[in-house]
Amino acid sequence: MNKNVFRNLSYGVYVVSTWDNGRATGCTANSAMQITSSPATIAVSINHDNYTNSCIKDTGRFAISILSEKSDPMIIGTFGFYSGKEKNKFDEVEHKLFANMPVVSDACGYITCEVIDTMETETHTVFLGRVLDGDVNGNDDPMTYSYYHKVVKGKSPKNAPTYIAD
Ligand SMILES: Cc1cc2nc3c(=O)[nH]c(=O)nc-3n(C[C@H](O)[C@H](O)[C@H](O)COP(=O)(O)O)c2cc1C
Repeated sequence: MNKNVFRNLSYGVYVVSTWDNGRATGCTANSAMQITSSPATIAVSINHDNYTNSCIKDTGRFAISILSEKSDPMIIGTFGFYSGKEKNKFDEVEHKLFANMPVVSDACGYITCEVIDTMETETHTVFLGRVLDGDVNGNDDPMTYSYYHKVVKGKSPKNAPTYIAD
């Protein structure tokens, strides 16, 4: 199989956030998709080894900050290459609370969700979220995963569902 075919699937780049006993935490994720518009439902796929996974399970809620082409790539690095086990990621990234969920300010929109179901794969949990709230922020274009690879020249770590070994 030519694994590069997966690169032709389109994604965005997001920060999926939640709470860890009152401390905001989260990780970079490309794997967010809208399942249906009514009732508005979103799915994200989070690796079992990511700290965000157990925090979403404990909290039962998550938020998605939709990064734009103008968002600082440092945000992707902070949330995507460090674990919330060792780092207070939100200390370094400006954020606000919406529907009592932490949301990255340098993003072109956010969606907050309540977990209504989960599905376990060998490596990832698919969280199905009923949308609680959401809004757009400014007019910047959302960052696509392709833009992240081709323009930002970013990489994806092993826990990303789209990881392909060099
Ligand atoms: C561009 C990019 C996309 C990623 N997509 C996902 C994803 O969809 N799901 C996932 O579980 N991890 C994904 N990751 C990896 C996590 O962000 C990374 O493992 C992070 O360090 C986990 O942090 P945590 O331990 O605080 O949860 C992605 C990373 C990058 C840089």
